[in-house]
Amino acid sequence: MMTSIVGLVVCAVLVFALQRALVRLQLSRAKHRSLAGHSRMARRFASVVPFYEYDEAHFFRADAAPEPVAAARRAGFMRLAGVFRQRYAQTAELTEEMLADVSDLQFTSRYRVPFQFSRFVREHLRPGAFLASSSGVTVTDMDGNRFYDLTGSYGVNVFGYDFYKECIARGSERVRDLGPVLGAYHPVVAYNVRRLLEISGLEEVSFHMSGTEAVMQAVRLARYNTGRSHLVRFCGAYHGWWGDVQPGVGNPIAARETYTLKDLDPAALRVLGSRRDIACVLVNPLQALHPNVNAPGDSTLLDSGRRAHFDRAAYTAWLKELREVCTRRGIVLIFDEVFVGFRLAAGGAQQYFGVRADMVTYGKTVAGGLPVGVLCGLGKFMRRYREERPADVCFARGTFNAHPYVMGSMFEFLKRLEERSIQEIYHRLDAVWNSRAGTLNERLAAAGLPVRVANLSSIWTICYVQASRYNWMFQYYLREAGLALSWVGTGRLIFSLNYSDEDFTAVSNALVAAATAMQADGWWWASPQLTNKSIRRNVLKEMIQARCLSPMGSMSSPRSK
Ligand SMILES: Cc1ncc(COP(=O)(O)O)c(C=O)c1O
Repeated sequence: MMTSIVGLVVCAVLVFALQRALVRLQLSRAKHRSLAGHSRMARRFASVVPFYEYDEAHFFRADAAPEPVAAARRAGFMRLAGVFRQRYAQTAELTEEMLADVSDLQFTSRYRVPFQFSRFVREHLRPGAFLASSSGVTVTDMDGNRFYDLTGSYGVNVFGYDFYKECIARGSERVRDLGPVLGAYHPVVAYNVRRLLEISGLEEVSFHMSGTEAVMQAVRLARYNTGRSHLVRFCGAYHGWWGDVQPGVGNPIAARETYTLKDLDPAALRVLGSRRDIACVLVNPLQALHPNVNAPGDSTLLDSGRRAHFDRAAYTAWLKELREVCTRRGIVLIFDEVFVGFRLAAGGAQQYFGVRADMVTYGKTVAGGLPVGVLCGLGKFMRRYREERPADVCFARGTFNAHPYVMGSMFEFLKRLEERSIQEIYHRLDAVWNSRAGTLNERLAAAGLPVRVANLSSIWTICYVQASRYNWMFQYYLREAGLALSWVGTGRLIFSLNYSDEDFTAVSNALVAAATAMQADGWWWASPQLTNKSIRRNVLKEMIQARCLSPMGSMSSPRSK
């Protein structure tokens, strides 16, 4: 009798352990095999990567190019350095002056190119971080140089800077009598709320000061209203800098209640379909351009492995599957449209892909150029208190939420969205931007240049079709050619929708000219032995060597100056 009870208990324990192991295995299979899919491993890896840098000779021959090629590169680099010194003198001087005092500047200037090359580049190519004015699709620096703006102001600039100047000026005028009074709302808020609900198709709104805050609020409310702990994000997706949505490199502590799953993969659906601890799924539709990959920046451009391609049908099908599993499992589906909202369509990604979310976050452009975050959601998920348990609340406030000036500018923005001219822009969006990308790619291919573009509407990224260690140099040639990029360089170009065909042709010409100059300077020389794989292998070897020579990773390798 006793032995059979023991046997039963052992069996039950084994079944339980097996079940847990299977659930764990299911989760492991739903992780992307890259480091971006394994947050903890990525942080550990980042902590052991040692610093080392190339000395001047190696700088030009990191791919073992022959001496004449290295000499051509050096000549090109020094010519460019001379142009930068002379052309951007005042802008660079002020930037240099501020560098020690502004931590953000220190960070961005350091992470423009792979770290092995960074110091030498910083010493010679100083693009400057100041601008004096904007107009049409251009910005002008302190030295009077005009650039076509491809920064898009991190995505804020959808309709052109003049449009936003008008929203801010008219909006400020509209709320001037109330001024900076907080807590109570200016009456423009009533219109803003009505329009946001129409646009999102949802039931309630809350206002915040940034996209990050809107996402924090969405996730907090999803947890509160489902009583579950975990959020799901997809590999590589950016949702602001809050810890829970940034579980990997960049966040010094682990995000313990976050699952990072593979985008566009049935294994992720299986996890969503079986686990009971998932409160919400966060989707950043921008990932459709590069699923499972982090936002591309030139500082990680070690080789030519950057890939991007937007497949609207595949992504739509994926969103529908997500919608279905979330509905079935009572999981809150959140579209984080801070970036793409109002850029892909008037009704944002929900309209563009034809899939409805339970909550949607907006930001960037929606306050007509002023800082904001907006959360729209179904009433049942936006609830912050419980009738039956009055002490059990979900607290979220912010001093500056619904600031009158922000609301005034948002009012102007939302009003102008109703204009026919804006509706027409939306109507032609994909046709215009896909055809522009296609034409440019044809030109690049015809000119024998190893550069291509990929796009999700007006959001573009540059890819490289031949193995090279020097693609990150392209950002400097582009600047010389009169194109302003953000600090992530060629990873993300953001066009405003007021680019005319003539403006775009000018940008295309500049891009082709820049690539031609870079090719002529020898940066894209390649031996048949040079592949992305061989580049990565060599870099890994260098890291191991540097690590062995300086175990703390704080000293330089023999190649350093
Ligand atoms: C999709 C997405 N979510 C959230 C954020 C964070 O917004 P903010 O920078 O306003 O905090 C961003 C910013 O780029 C974003 O692209």
